[in-house]
Amino acid sequence: SFEKNTIIVIFGASGDLAKKKTFPALFGLFREGYLDPSTKIVGYARSKLTKEELHAKIEPHLKKPHGEKDDQKVKDFFNMTNYISGQYDTDEGYLQLNDEIETFEKSRNISKPHRLFYLALPPSVFLPVAQQLKKLVYATDGITRVIVEKPFGHDLQSARKLQADLAPLFKEEEIFRIDHYLGKELVKNLIPLRFGNKFLNSSWNKNSIQNIQISFKEPFGTEGRGGYFDSIGIVRDVMQNHLLQILTLLTMDRPISFNAEDIRDEKVKVLKSLAPISNDNILIGQYDKSIDGTKPSYLDDETVKPDSKCVTFAALTFHINNDRWDGVPIIMRAGKALDSGKVEIRVQYKNIPTGMFNTMPNNELVIRVQPNPAVYLKFNAKTPGLSDTTSVTDLDLTYENRYSDFWIPEAYEVLIRDALLGDHSNFVRDDELDISWKLFTPLLNYIESSEAPAPSLYPYGSRGPEGLSEYLKKNGFDYNGTE
Ligand code: BG6
Repeated sequence: SFEKNTIIVIFGASGDLAKKKTFPALFGLFREGYLDPSTKIVGYARSKLTKEELHAKIEPHLKKPHGEKDDQKVKDFFNMTNYISGQYDTDEGYLQLNDEIETFEKSRNISKPHRLFYLALPPSVFLPVAQQLKKLVYATDGITRVIVEKPFGHDLQSARKLQADLAPLFKEEEIFRIDHYLGKELVKNLIPLRFGNKFLNSSWNKNSIQNIQISFKEPFGTEGRGGYFDSIGIVRDVMQNHLLQILTLLTMDRPISFNAEDIRDEKVKVLKSLAPISNDNILIGQYDKSIDGTKPSYLDDETVKPDSKCVTFAALTFHINNDRWDGVPIIMRAGKALDSGKVEIRVQYKNIPTGMFNTMPNNELVIRVQPNPAVYLKFNAKTPGLSDTTSVTDLDLTYENRYSDFWIPEAYEVLIRDALLGDHSNFVRDDELDISWKLFTPLLNYIESSEAPAPSLYPYGSRGPEGLSEYLKKNGFDYNGTE
């Protein structure tokens, strides 16, 4: 059932995120029939733009898989989408926005308004917008939902401050902290895969699993985003949020139900069982020029501090102090400007006893989040024919082969729809956020202090710092041909 006559307001409508992700996601939902044509969308930002100018900015980012049919959809979508230019900290623009919303709701005879606000904003204006929105456009007699984008704070202290400032404005059930990794198809599949398959479920513990690796690789550097990235670094950018979310879904116990609070209770439980990250067991790096000299070093970016020690690569190892995971290292690594772009989970099983066999490669379950989503299991089988040897082969679920007829929504499409339906399962709860900062803040303080070694330089386009293989090995990973 579609929600009718919903109002969706995008704050920060002229910014990059809105243009590249939020509006295209709304369009994708509309195109596929998951956003009712009775919806009204309003962009709000400081830039002085006309509605048409906003549309022109968004248009190149809209996906049109059905060709001409989608051109009409784009027109219809733009007819639903207005723009208001206003300041973030004074009443004027919000009064105009409220006027527009109320006129719409009156014209549709709505008794119970449903308003979704999307805050695609830099941290500096986040709070004033939240305050003004509460004061002037909150649906007192209806449903108000607010999607907030990262960063949710810079460390534990600032995250708590932000929380404390927001808490009096909105109830927790009204807040949707978005982590777009939770909307990715393969991340959403972690719960069904783990808990819906006896063979995985029963081996998902320290008795069978030797180590887990969660890796994030990007083939490009900060390219123009250095100003943003320099005070953030790779740990805050993707590890404290995206990769930790993956770790949590991979290691939590089975939730009682699919209910959002049941899921998030289990996530919080496992997060609380994580041991502090050891500062002595990390590998940090910063990218240098490519070997052939054609790609710049991080410091070549004019928007970063000239002597910046910003970390663009990190490998960390987690331990979970509970019965299921005691002694199983979970390696998390992430880097920019590497040799490929990939997000992957690798679950490496323990060796089987030798005896009748010589040592065989361990089984590995690989969940490739992107690109080219896949789940495959590397296992040993007899080499066919008149042979006594075994070799490694794959049980392979590659999505583009098996599910080529399916529409796989973008992460933002999934999550905006969830928020429209009021489903919090794939959003970050306040206590979850707090624990994640508690876990990462000491590490971040250390990395950013003078005590920490300088990040090792690695060439743009390489696998990462030189010590990587050694690091993985030291933390329990057996090299089987790929890592
Ligand atoms: C964002 C980070 O949250 O995630 C970016 O700020 C990163 O630096 C991006 O590139 C990765 O998202 P995706 O969906 O492209 O894997």
